[in-house]
Amino acid sequence: MSAPILTVEGLVKSYGGRRAVDGLSLTVGPKEIFGLLGPNGAGKSTTLAMLSTLLVPDAGRIELDGVDLVREPGRVRPWLGYVPQELALYPALSARDNLSFFGRIYGLGGRKLAERVDAVLDVVGLRDRARELVRTFSGGMMRRLNLAAGLVHSPKVLFLDEPTVGVDPQSRNFIFEHVLRLRNEGLTILYTSHYMEEVQRLCDRVAIIDEGRMLALDTPQALVGRLGEGLLVLGLPDGGLEGLSPCASRLDAVGKVTVRDGRLYLEANNVNRALVELLDLCNVRQIGLTSLQVLPPSLESVFLRLTGKRLRD
Ligand SMILES: Nc1ncnc2c1ncn2[C@@H]1O[C@H](COP(=O)(O)OP(=O)(O)OP(=O)(O)O)[C@@H](O)[C@H]1O
Ligand SMILES: [Mg+2]
Repeated sequence: MSAPILTVEGLVKSYGGRRAVDGLSLTVGPKEIFGLLGPNGAGKSTTLAMLSTLLVPDAGRIELDGVDLVREPGRVRPWLGYVPQELALYPALSARDNLSFFGRIYGLGGRKLAERVDAVLDVVGLRDRARELVRTFSGGMMRRLNLAAGLVHSPKVLFLDEPTVGVDPQSRNFIFEHVLRLRNEGLTILYTSHYMEEVQRLCDRVAIIDEGRMLALDTPQALVGRLGEGLLVLGLPDGGLEGLSPCASRLDAVGKVTVRDGRLYLEANNVNRALVELLDLCNVRQIGLTSLQVLPPSLESVFLRLTGKRLRD
């Protein structure tokens, strides 16, 4: 990867006594689409709010294109585009007036402003609806306009916080295509989501976070690749876990073994063989399984192994 455009080191933010972001470090390269994947409350929005200068971190360093973002927020703000999770639009204004408003905040005016507003209306496919009031828009159209508002001042880096929540499949595909196009035009994008398919399809690299901490960081392919052919998730009776886990890791068809919340997670190099070996082992040791799941190698399975949770409850 070429020199990072964004560097985050040891980022911390607490609310009351609880750490919402707990020592996050990552780097994002130019023109990269970087995903932050995590369940509700993982700290995605809090992280993006700090990267967007809207929240001041309790600790840690953020550097954007060589500038310390915490010390000099005013210098980096024009380079940032932030598309918040909650729609930030004025329903009583037209699409065009909304975008003009956001453009003026960033110091644009006159002809330059009008040109940029037209350009981003084109980007999100709303040029022909520009004069209509936002309150008459569908959810998907509002999402697209929300995205346009983050682009109007031509940022270098775009922070997208769950931009496809509540969006129909057509608008979702539209947003995907535009995110990819924006990257191809030179933008660096940080994208939060709890939809696996999105991250798998869009992101060059992904950080899996939970409870404010980074659990894994790699390309989606590499993260999934480590699972081998699949993941076996075993429920065991009291005492069974301790009896089984040391021997399970010695089975030929089994890679890494993880114990979490009373379950055993086995990465299988060969699912069928792993099952045969495993059941044989249970038989010999007289351990009865209480549940057995075979999950395909996917980001969902990676996440389950790392956290013991499903991304969507
Ligand atoms: N303003 C706030 N005051 C108090 N606690 C907060 C505040 N904002 C966030 N938190 C807490 O910080 C943690 C992280 O929240 P955050 O919104 O960053 O998560 P998230 O990953 O964006 O979740 P979601 O997928 O639901 O959007 C949660 O425990 C949340 O309750
Ligand atoms: Mg959020």
